[in-house]
Amino acid sequence: MKINVFENYEELSKEVSEFIIERVNNNKKMLLCFAGGDTPVLAYKNLVKAYEEGRVDFKDCKFVGLDEWVGLDENDLGSCKYLLYKEVFEPLKIKEENICFFDGKAKNLQKECKNMDMFIEKYGPIDLIVLGIGVNGHLGFNEPGVSFENYTHVVNLQDSTKVVGQKYFEDEKKLEKGITLGIRYILESDTPILIANGKKKSDAIKRLLEDEITENMPASALKLHNNSHIFLDKEATLKINLKK
Ligand code: F6R
Repeated sequence: MKINVFENYEELSKEVSEFIIERVNNNKKMLLCFAGGDTPVLAYKNLVKAYEEGRVDFKDCKFVGLDEWVGLDENDLGSCKYLLYKEVFEPLKIKEENICFFDGKAKNLQKECKNMDMFIEKYGPIDLIVLGIGVNGHLGFNEPGVSFENYTHVVNLQDSTKVVGQKYFEDEKKLEKGITLGIRYILESDTPILIANGKKKSDAIKRLLEDEITENMPASALKLHNNSHIFLDKEATLKINLKK
């Protein structure tokens, strides 16, 4: 696990976007997976700017969604699908056939899982995954206690995820379950990247870096991967002792 620490969120986001651009320029047919949430948004905006400047093109890439709130879809402002279409797929002009995303309103969620697994089986393994971390250590919606062996699955969300998740929505939402790629996909990917910024993430980052690898800390799975990268800003490292 390679740890990179930057002065602030802007520098961190610039580095993350340049990291992605370099890899996509080296392999134009990547299968990419981008998290929703607030953390990666500036990196996504940088990608769009680079695309508009002609520095990178994602037209031959395929994309899979990382997760979605069960009960929500792209018509719900704040859903993962809404965010990814608005910040990434639409501005980068990604064709629909190159995207596989969860429908959180689907009646048959097992079918959603199967569709995703089939897409990844066809085009995978995933080349690059961009992840955020929950204050409880979750990756995607892989909550503490979830097996590292899972592929796509439906999970019961923990209270902290339900509470923190309200920040994405104007009106209070009933958030009970999530549908998510499992840790197994992250471990089988070529390059997983975790991004975290701000004091609010400093406890989770301390636990990730200092504690043992355990399913109770899903992000610790990244320590099992020999090409995982963590991009942090200084505030996220406040509670740890990083040897520089
Ligand atoms: C969202 C996702 C979540 C978030 C995490 C951090 O698609 O997968 O795991 O990455 O909850 O969220 P933010 O970035 O809003 O702090």
